[in-house]
Amino acid sequence: MTIAFTVNGVAQRVDAPETTTLLDVLRNRLGLMGTRYGCGLEQCGSCMVLVDGQPVHSCTREIGTVAKRAVTTVEGLGTADKPHPIQQAFLDEQAGQCGYCLSGIVMSTKALLDRNPNPSRADIVAALDKHLCRCGTHQRILRAVERAAATLRGAA
Ligand code: FES
Ligand code: FES
Repeated sequence: MTIAFTVNGVAQRVDAPETTTLLDVLRNRLGLMGTRYGCGLEQCGSCMVLVDGQPVHSCTREIGTVAKRAVTTVEGLGTADKPHPIQQAFLDEQAGQCGYCLSGIVMSTKALLDRNPNPSRADIVAALDKHLCRCGTHQRILRAVERAAATLRGAA
């Protein structure tokens, strides 16, 4: 079937079985390699993207369910030359080691800060509860989210 949706504001039409995963389409059809495959079981969060602004595990979300919806991936935030303030905060806090987990965490952070510009530490922990970082940079990640929130509020 043909599924029409947008990715990072660009209209896309994909011919695929409706049970194909969104992650498969993003990486292998559209060449958007920033979203990562970790477990394929909704256990690690490395595949997180936004669908209509809500965090979604793209490793299990079937492409047929995103018809007419707006998908945002990490490529839709910033670039290496002009990172989004969230990405800049992660850089400033040196929150990445291997970086494999980070695109998913950045997307969940985007969703959090869009709905709650001034989250408590507990709010941040709850929002990132679906993510694993095997490098164990958790404290730096938490500081990066706090830094990003302050920057976006104009408080830093
Ligand atoms: S790859 Fe989707 S949660 Fe791990
Ligand atoms: S920085 Fe390596 S998994 Fe998180």
